[in-house]
Amino acid sequence: MEMLGFSAVYRLATDLLGFFQSLAEQGCPAPFRLGPYRAFLVTRPEHVRHVYQREQAGVYINNRFASVTKRVFGDSLLNNDGPQWASQRRMLKPYFTNAGVKQWASLIDRKLGDLADAWERKAGEWLTVDAECAALTQAVMTSVLFGEEVGQTAVAQEAIEAIHVVHQEFVTQTLGLALLGPVFSWLPVPSNRRFNRAIRTIDRIVGRLIDCASRTRQGLIAFLRETVDPDTGRSMDAKLLRDELIALYVAGQETTGIALTWLLYELAKHPEIAEKARKDVLDRREGEVNAEAFPYLWAIVQETLRLHPSTTTLLRYAVRGDRIGEVEIPRGSLVLMSPYVTHRLPDIWPDPERFDPTRFKPGSGAPGVCSFITFGGGRHICLGLNLANRILLQSAVTLLRRFEFYVPNDYRVNPRPGLFLRPEGGCRIQIVSRPLSDRLAAAAGR
Ligand code: HEM
Repeated sequence: MEMLGFSAVYRLATDLLGFFQSLAEQGCPAPFRLGPYRAFLVTRPEHVRHVYQREQAGVYINNRFASVTKRVFGDSLLNNDGPQWASQRRMLKPYFTNAGVKQWASLIDRKLGDLADAWERKAGEWLTVDAECAALTQAVMTSVLFGEEVGQTAVAQEAIEAIHVVHQEFVTQTLGLALLGPVFSWLPVPSNRRFNRAIRTIDRIVGRLIDCASRTRQGLIAFLRETVDPDTGRSMDAKLLRDELIALYVAGQETTGIALTWLLYELAKHPEIAEKARKDVLDRREGEVNAEAFPYLWAIVQETLRLHPSTTTLLRYAVRGDRIGEVEIPRGSLVLMSPYVTHRLPDIWPDPERFDPTRFKPGSGAPGVCSFITFGGGRHICLGLNLANRILLQSAVTLLRRFEFYVPNDYRVNPRPGLFLRPEGGCRIQIVSRPLSDRLAAAAGR
């Protein structure tokens, strides 16, 4: 079993985080066998940095198992490397810079206002916030990609569920391909049925959104139709445009929704931290919402992203041999990195399980390069990180102004094992309205 690498397959499928943590205790890079592959878990920041640098030099690629992702993301940049990826990234990047996403501040506020008004009507109730956060991030992402008019359409619960299934099945799909090759996708196993059904749903919903958006000419879709890659002079054809929109629709929603859920959970678990942040929010009613204006709240968001990185695993494939620290990495090996484990290295993050926003306080020493990799790093660093950070920060400002969050003292939500760090069994929080004066001020401020 061990020799053939099947025990690793079993542990990855059933207890991914526990498996990674036990490997990390053996050293870095930690070797293991994954079916036909030699694999290495890389967790130390200096070695993660090395991987990103060598990726830049062409030693590692990120799309060894592209045939899994191709079924969902087609030829989008999420599924690419090399010159075509570089061209796609150049075309998309301006839309997602810090300055680029600032244009969405008032849209995000409007969507948050709708959410908060709905919560006001349910005040005092216990809400499963995962679902609420997923609906909010879907509403924002739909507007950002397809324009606000299209984004007014009702929440497609079907899409939220389909995206969840795609992410849920990713580990099985990748392991299936790694072990059995392309034939795996033809086998009549439940994972294939679920995966294929989810892909068809997403494809149908995004197709409908594209049709609606062609009449309104707003959002990223309109921007991309007019964008030309400055280096190649090429624009995107209709097929690539659709692939790109599907990729962003899938990549942005659940990741940000999960992060927002954990943020509300931590605020509810730590009333003293929430109160201190609320004071900053109430003291400052006007102006831009950003890290400079709300340093403590920003630190809370970053600490949430450290403790609960939405993505647990990043995968690379060595197209050439390499050496990481003292360990030889033969050509053809898999290199896995785990934000979850790196963010819990006790010499980098003392008392790592403790929620402590002061780690990110300005002046307390920024985290070292590659010790904070919630958004990955190197050339494939998350394209949507500015948008995600903005959604999280603005959400915290609006929701702290209008609500208090409660959970019982002994309430604990565990992460569900898998590629994405979703709260196991959902996260239930009691939402209580703040005094009317704060709500009126919040309404005036948006
Ligand atoms: C809290 C929210 C988010 C988290 C934790 C997150 C995490 C990540 C991570 C870890 C990667 C790197 C993957 C790798 O190196 O293999 C990544 C890439 C990516 N993310 Fe995000 N993401 C978030 C939100 C978003 C949003 C809102 C969007 C869309 C606007 C987005 C779009 C992308 C894209 C397109 C890539 C691929 C970039 C490339 O390969 O060049 N993400 N994300």
